[in-house]
Amino acid sequence: HLKYRAFAPISLPDRRWPGVQITQAPLWLSTDLRDGNQALIEPMDPERKLRMFQMLVKIGFKEIEVGFPSASQTDFDFVRMLIEDGQIPDDVTIQVLTQARQPLIERTFESLVGAKRAVVHLYNAVAPVMRRVVLGMTEDQIVDLAVTHTAMIREMAARQPETDFRFEYSPEMFSGTELAFSKRVVDAVTEAWGPTPERKIIINLPTTVEHSTPNVFADMVEWMHRHIERRESVILSVHPHNDRGTGTAAAELALMAGADRIEGCLFGNGERTGNLDLVNIALNLYTQGVPPGLDFSDIDEVRRCVEHCNQLPVHPRHPYVGELVYTSFSGSHQDAIKKAFSARKEGDIWEIPYLPIDPKDLGRSYEAVIRVNSQSGKGGISYLLESEYGIEMPRRLQIEFSQIVQGVMDTHGKELGAADLWQIFDREYGVKQ
Ligand code: KIV
Ligand code: ZN
Repeated sequence: HLKYRAFAPISLPDRRWPGVQITQAPLWLSTDLRDGNQALIEPMDPERKLRMFQMLVKIGFKEIEVGFPSASQTDFDFVRMLIEDGQIPDDVTIQVLTQARQPLIERTFESLVGAKRAVVHLYNAVAPVMRRVVLGMTEDQIVDLAVTHTAMIREMAARQPETDFRFEYSPEMFSGTELAFSKRVVDAVTEAWGPTPERKIIINLPTTVEHSTPNVFADMVEWMHRHIERRESVILSVHPHNDRGTGTAAAELALMAGADRIEGCLFGNGERTGNLDLVNIALNLYTQGVPPGLDFSDIDEVRRCVEHCNQLPVHPRHPYVGELVYTSFSGSHQDAIKKAFSARKEGDIWEIPYLPIDPKDLGRSYEAVIRVNSQSGKGGISYLLESEYGIEMPRRLQIEFSQIVQGVMDTHGKELGAADLWQIFDREYGVKQ
């Protein structure tokens, strides 16, 4: 996998270099059908849910949170449909969320009857503001709530032996909670579940709301990574949201700090400003030479599907996928890109200025999006005429012709496409006859 560099070839004299790097992809969990869905103006209907599920499977997700079946009849029915219609591939595990209340846990297990494998995901709030203002519970009561319901899930799982159950616990609002208390709850839950290195528990640390700079979250993750009990029997997961616009940074730093697993949504859908954008972080890894194990080779197909399911548009400047992200408006950029493309040989490291990724790797193209406007220079103009019409202009002609084009744009003030350029070229030099 030599197309992309593992790290930038720059060294800082006063720093250890390279610094900490992410060298392998994490385990991934998509929560598009749960956290993403619950934040939609119009939650997905069964048709859209199934389309999203099938797309997630096609991309390569092996763990998919499919809903909150005790909270919503639509989610319950969807889980039943996935199981009864045999929609879940053998190598994919579904995950469902539940609160720490007996009737809800019973209903959760009811939804999972007949599943081959499932993760039951229990959460309860642990932050001081929730304890004091919302729940009116002491620290001891919070620990007791988490432990009692973990033990209940363990017991109910033993009563449905046809399903291979795993367990995830989230101390909700971890990022706003005292570390010592988070450790106390997590250790107690781990003890109550009784994992082994072969059958690990998933401990998921959410930034339910992003409060701090991403390094602070990563420091908290690192502290948990170093201090929680039975670390060898724990998959340490993170679940960043994006309130400060730093969800991706928080997730990357958390991986460097010891996290094994990442939860998020495609293109960052989710509550408020969204969950971590899984496409963004996966392709960041890819452009650093780390295979993400997720397939975005037809990213527009993924975008169309997600836009249909979520009924929300993806922004034209969204990293890697937006309509404009392979567009170059600036003449000097176009010139540099053209030179780098001409110098590039098959098998070379990807080293095209202004294009951090080869658009072809995502099923996109650069050629189609180069544009000529009043900011462009001769590079873009000659590139378009060469790529679209096979006209190779000597350098002197490039300069002369770009001045003519500039004159046309000064008069009309509009953006020109390849066909317009061809017309001007034909008018000036009469190539048609
Ligand atoms: O953001 C959050 O805290 C959650 C939990 C339920 C994991 O979505
Ligand atoms: Zn969340």
